[in-house]
Amino acid sequence: MSNERSGFSSRLGFVLATAGSAVGLGNIWRFPYLAAKYGGGTFLLTYLILTLTFGFSLMITEVALGRKAGTSAIRAFGHFSKKHTFIGYLTTIIPFIIFPYYCVIGGWVTKYALISLQGGIHNAASDTFFTGFISKSAEPMICVLVFLIATTVVVAGGVKGGVERVSTIMMPVLIVLLIGVSLFCITRPGAMAGVAYYLKPSLKGFGPTTILAALGQLFYSMSLAMGIMITFGSYMPKKADLEKSVTQVEIFDTGVAFLAGLMIVPAVFVFSNGDSSMLAKGPSLMFVMLPKVFDSMAFSSVIAAVFFILVLLAALTSSISLLETLVAVLMDKFHMKRGTACITMFIIALLLAVPSSLGFGAWSNITILGFDFLDFFDFISNSVLMPIAAFLTCLFVGYIIKPKVIVDEVESSGEFKRKSLFLIMVKYIAPICIVAILVFSVLEGLG
Ligand code: PHE
Repeated sequence: MSNERSGFSSRLGFVLATAGSAVGLGNIWRFPYLAAKYGGGTFLLTYLILTLTFGFSLMITEVALGRKAGTSAIRAFGHFSKKHTFIGYLTTIIPFIIFPYYCVIGGWVTKYALISLQGGIHNAASDTFFTGFISKSAEPMICVLVFLIATTVVVAGGVKGGVERVSTIMMPVLIVLLIGVSLFCITRPGAMAGVAYYLKPSLKGFGPTTILAALGQLFYSMSLAMGIMITFGSYMPKKADLEKSVTQVEIFDTGVAFLAGLMIVPAVFVFSNGDSSMLAKGPSLMFVMLPKVFDSMAFSSVIAAVFFILVLLAALTSSISLLETLVAVLMDKFHMKRGTACITMFIIALLLAVPSSLGFGAWSNITILGFDFLDFFDFISNSVLMPIAAFLTCLFVGYIIKPKVIVDEVESSGEFKRKSLFLIMVKYIAPICIVAILVFSVLEGLG
């Protein structure tokens, strides 16, 4: 393990590792639910347009900032303007809050993957299984430990030997499994009604909230405003075409979300005889509804095992990107060796995961602003801090260092086809959209 800053060996390495970060639980349970709720095909189209405009502009901004500065988020802003170092600190707090509770959810996924592999999906499909499991004290924490060890081992292997190597194996496997389960789900008797419901554009339920929901979702789904894209940008080869790479990550992320919808919406439809309200939000879809759906299918054990393994791969590659971002901060700012940084973060994350996990059991009587611990950390990071960090990033690029810095970085390695779009977005439209997301998500969270 060396202390020298390394990077991805190729453009493909960057694309797959970044897509690994972007593809996560958000794509698999949240996207299908939102699409079903907000008008099917209309939502899909809205989401696609926003991804290619708003999402693209924010992502290319962060990746280019990182590559130009050659450092992780905590120092990237200060690299351009000392006075604005605080934006780097703010951005760095976010993965620090998210990582521990993400590992708690990763632990749940690990448990479900193990149970499914042992053929126990029927057990997991009972009404009380999930709440029974998460309200225990020791078992969920053991699962967190397993998930956290897996994440740490990969990150300790370095950027090339760990993050890149694992992503280039896991992401193609994930795609193959996802296509397999989707094909199986849409060919079940009666599934076509669900497919139609998912794809058919409907103006019912379409309105400003559809756009805000799509914006919020893509923001989270593309792992923006967490310092991840800045860090991964700093590992990107200087010669790699930036616009092309970012576009490919977007296609990957959106493609996986779309396929996840094709897998989940029809399956739930068949199970519930067309009752779309069963696509209820939150962990209950993934950990309560889906086990029931799989249990009712032919080859239930195989399908459940494949599904939870693919979810585990998606969650692992996201948590790897979170830990890598934090380890990069410790290495860049405090000159720690990679191994020391990994062990430090491992211990901190394990300790901070305790309240999030116990919040569903022994500590469930403690709430903050009405939230349990996990939901509170999720609310503060996703609904409050991330929009603020993204807003400041846009202002920083649009008005302090000026967008030309980004344009030059992009053009140093290829063409910038969506340059005019980027310029308008970063200066005017994106900041307005982000304020709208902030207001919407805070009201939704507190409401
Ligand atoms: N982009 C991830 C998703 O869609 C979310 C995420 C990534 C969260 C990385 C934390 C860290 O689920």
